[in-house]
Amino acid sequence: MTRMIRIFDTTLRDGEQSPGASMNVEEKIMVAKQLARLGVDIIEAGFAYSSPGDFEAVHRIAQEVEGPTICSLARARPEDIERAWEALKGAPKVRIHTFLSASDIHLKHQFRMTREEAKKRAVAMVQLARSYVEDVEFSPMDASRSDPSYLYEVIEAVIAAGAGTINIPDTVGYAVPQEFGRLIRGIREAVPNSSRAVISVHCHNDLGLAVANSLAAIVEGAGQVECTVNGIGERAGNTSLEEVVMGLRTRRDWYQADTQIRTEEISKTSRLVSKTTSMVVQPNKAIVGANAFAHTSGIHQDGLLKDKTTYEIMRPESVGLVESKMVMGKLSGRHAFRQRIEELGYKLTDEEVNHAFERFKKLADQKKEIYEEDLEVIVSEELAKM
Ligand code: KIV
Ligand code: ZN
Repeated sequence: MTRMIRIFDTTLRDGEQSPGASMNVEEKIMVAKQLARLGVDIIEAGFAYSSPGDFEAVHRIAQEVEGPTICSLARARPEDIERAWEALKGAPKVRIHTFLSASDIHLKHQFRMTREEAKKRAVAMVQLARSYVEDVEFSPMDASRSDPSYLYEVIEAVIAAGAGTINIPDTVGYAVPQEFGRLIRGIREAVPNSSRAVISVHCHNDLGLAVANSLAAIVEGAGQVECTVNGIGERAGNTSLEEVVMGLRTRRDWYQADTQIRTEEISKTSRLVSKTTSMVVQPNKAIVGANAFAHTSGIHQDGLLKDKTTYEIMRPESVGLVESKMVMGKLSGRHAFRQRIEELGYKLTDEEVNHAFERFKKLADQKKEIYEEDLEVIVSEELAKM
């Protein structure tokens, strides 16, 4: 049986915490509408208390965007929770996401609270949020560096107080996959009422492990993944939405889990977020990088021309691209060369192809990539000789 994993998109909140990536209200609404077309389950639209602009963005997205549940972040303080409620009220599907640290490092140095005080505050704020909305999420921040026995106690208490989703953040990207998976299993085994809540995960990418940690958590029963488009976010970013979604879709056989994302909208969403935040996507980024479906080696190009499954584990169309790209360069073979010139509308004899291919190889030794214009010149000069 395939389990459906909820996608909680935080591009507009944690993603916006990438240096220089802030978006104005209209831009946030445009991105939120595209996230709805993509089919995410929950949109964390912002942090209503943090600024008038964020309040307006949460409010307008809650009013104007149909489909997903709209969520506002709120610290575990009454004024934050009340502000989140003001921004969300009147909208059909809303969630308040409140958080407080669970690690001794944070409690001692940042919050200056004892464990008991923090637990009491978390319970009171979940109850307050529940007095406004049905759907409350609680995050014990820095969970991956917390004492598991205290973490279990907090989780049990906030579920009893009415939290329907418990989000386990790897706030500083410290966890490694086997360990993080074990943490999720530990919660499910040690917290008696944990089956009453959805266990969510929220991973940061400081060690480049955010996606791997999220997938390890899914194996151990997590039912929601928090992520951002293009993996943008604080420091090295958050779990990349497109990587988790395509990981599950492509390896559903292994994970026995999937999402309801309309994957054909992925490329468009990635381009919109990149343009809106001015954050360039690295060319070799999985799924959405310019090279993710580009093939350079002659051996790979030859295989692909015979059968796409030889070197592609996903079809480019499945993420909304028209087709894979054959990069013409010094490693390209005769087969790919012939195919490309035929696509350009030329019909050459075998002998003409051989001559043109020799010239192409000479040129390719001098240039990083051969473009259509280069091929046109080579082929038309070859034809002119005849
Ligand atoms: O990284 C983090 O811990 C967060 C929380 C607010 C969930 O972003
Ligand atoms: Zn975060």
